[in-house]
Amino acid sequence: MKTIIILGGSSSIGKSICTEFNTQDNRVISTYFSKNELLKNHKNTESIYLNLNDNESIIDFSKKLVSEKVSIDVLVSLAGILPGKNLSEYSFEEIDEVLSVNFSGQAKLIRNILPLLANKSKLLLLSSISAQKGSYDPIYSASKGAILSFIKSILPNIPEGSTINAIAPGLIQDSTMFKDMTKDRQELHKKQIFSGNLLDKDDLAKIIFDLCQDHWGHLNGACIDLNGGQYLR
Ligand SMILES: NC(=O)c1ccc[n+]([C@@H]2O[C@H](COP(=O)([O-])OP(=O)(O)OC[C@H]3O[C@@H](n4cnc5c(N)ncnc54)[C@H](OP(=O)(O)O)[C@@H]3O)[C@@H](O)[C@H]2O)c1
Repeated sequence: MKTIIILGGSSSIGKSICTEFNTQDNRVISTYFSKNELLKNHKNTESIYLNLNDNESIIDFSKKLVSEKVSIDVLVSLAGILPGKNLSEYSFEEIDEVLSVNFSGQAKLIRNILPLLANKSKLLLLSSISAQKGSYDPIYSASKGAILSFIKSILPNIPEGSTINAIAPGLIQDSTMFKDMTKDRQELHKKQIFSGNLLDKDDLAKIIFDLCQDHWGHLNGACIDLNGGQYLR
């Protein structure tokens, strides 16, 4: 049985991803912050509180995994917040919060659970097109950019045969970020994509599931762009 950790399984894209991993062969540990909505059919999934902006919560979560002697095969991080503010609209506390949830809290957690990573474990962190292209919200973009530098730098510290990668999606159809946008803004995003369609949540879930399989063992320290050609680098 494989152990799969999904940070932010409660996110708008998390349900599809938890569904992909919720097989008889897997134990899925999904985290939530404010929305503990465990899926009824997900018998192999448990939902655990985690606040990535709180050191104690990170320590508690890590201790639980350590005390259970969990061997982690897959870690997918979907946790993230997008205030959608420009720099002068941010308070100091909000800057700290975005950087903690989107990057440093995840780095602290990975630091704590490094000894629990199985050989050939797969770590996959959600970055964003805004890490590469920049965006109206510089703190969000910077936090997602930090993920990209982090995965490249941590390679020597993960167990032999393991991989750590990122994916950088553009706007995802029907996600929280999509719903938080005005119709005009949603249309603007669609127009910038060659196919005219935004990324579908279920397609993203299949991609994430596949990237966590052994046949992707040579992808390491990389970022997969999933932006429909909206930003070519
Ligand atoms: N949606 C897009 O178009 C898009 C595009 C590119 C990248 N992304 C990335 O994809 C991920 C999911 O996006 P989404 O649109 O589905 O966002 P979402 O629904 O708002 O989900 C955000 C996730 O982060 C968790 N979270 C929030 N504050 C937290 C905290 N203090 N500690 C721990 N977890 C916390 C939330 O938990 P609760 O729900 O339980 O509060 C939720 O699971 C994010 O990392 C986002 O940056 C999204």
